[in-house]
Amino acid sequence: MMRSALLWLSARQSIFNFVSRNRLAKRFAARFVAGQTLPEAIAVARELKARGIMVSLDLLGESVTKPVEAEQARDAYIEILDAMKAAGLEVNASLKPTQMGFDIDEAACEANIRSVLQRAVEVEAFVRMDMESSAYTQRTLDLYHRLAPSFADQTGVVIQAALRRSTGDITTLNQHKARVRLCKGAYLEPAEVAYPDKSDVDAHYERLMTALLTEGKYPGIATHDEIMIEKAKQFATANGIARDSFEFQMLYGIRRDLQSALVRDGWRIRVYIPFGTQWYPYLMRRLAERPANIVFILGNLVKEAFSRK
Ligand code: FDA
Repeated sequence: MMRSALLWLSARQSIFNFVSRNRLAKRFAARFVAGQTLPEAIAVARELKARGIMVSLDLLGESVTKPVEAEQARDAYIEILDAMKAAGLEVNASLKPTQMGFDIDEAACEANIRSVLQRAVEVEAFVRMDMESSAYTQRTLDLYHRLAPSFADQTGVVIQAALRRSTGDITTLNQHKARVRLCKGAYLEPAEVAYPDKSDVDAHYERLMTALLTEGKYPGIATHDEIMIEKAKQFATANGIARDSFEFQMLYGIRRDLQSALVRDGWRIRVYIPFGTQWYPYLMRRLAERPANIVFILGNLVKEAFSRK
């Protein structure tokens, strides 16, 4: 119930317009968002690099409605790639097709993403297309297949274990040697397309993960699920899968302890760093994954308030 309510709220721009001015809401967001500006995100990326953690920068923003907003997002991503290169970081970013104008004009959106990927070639970067709700799955995969002939080394996609169709998608993507990030899926979906039960999502995740580790091209195992991570480690070890042939991925601000433990034990780990002013839908999806976060963050804010007195 709570998850559905938070996910429903995540899609309500009018609520964001209201809460974005609220100081408490901004401090809530700071738990999961690395700042509002690119220099702040670069500073976080540098800190993580110093801890042996790779990063992917994400400029928050989605579902733009005007071509000019999509063009601004394109230019901002080119700036992100350049800034990462200049900072001596491995250049890696994640973007959302709807941020590049997918809902306005698919051809223009593709042209925007091609411009970003062209810069990715120049600065030896990798730019993954995040996966949004199931309304976009087929269109995003089609877009990937159109981009791959020119940019196979620069881009990849995301597959969500929550979706029933994902077994078939992984088979096709593995045949095409596509770089896939596997996640559970963060969107509210109807039961016809997605498993309603978490146990089914987890079982599907494990099957897809095994297929990717065996036949995929440098997959990203994106999860904070400790049991799943343990299963991935055991599967890789038992099957002689090299530690540098895949990476674990986690979100900024979640399970830092687990991130450090993976580095310490010699596994590759990348942290997805969201930044920018459009943090509301992202924050609501993080709260929906773990509604206890609301209590946790409120508790910390109260503690901070008292310690300042
Ligand atoms: P699960 O939800 O089972 O959680 C396992 C454990 O992780 C929890 O018990 C808790 O300890 C911890 N945890 C999980 N979420 C937490 C949170 N918000 N706060 C605190 N602790 C939390 N989704 C999508 O639909 N499209 C995409 O493109 C992406 N991209 C993406 C990139 C990366 C790098 C990651 C890690 C995740 C995504 N996701 C995503 C989000 C993903 O689909 C999923 O919603 C979250 O990762 C939560 O699922 P877990 O796999 O962590 O498992």
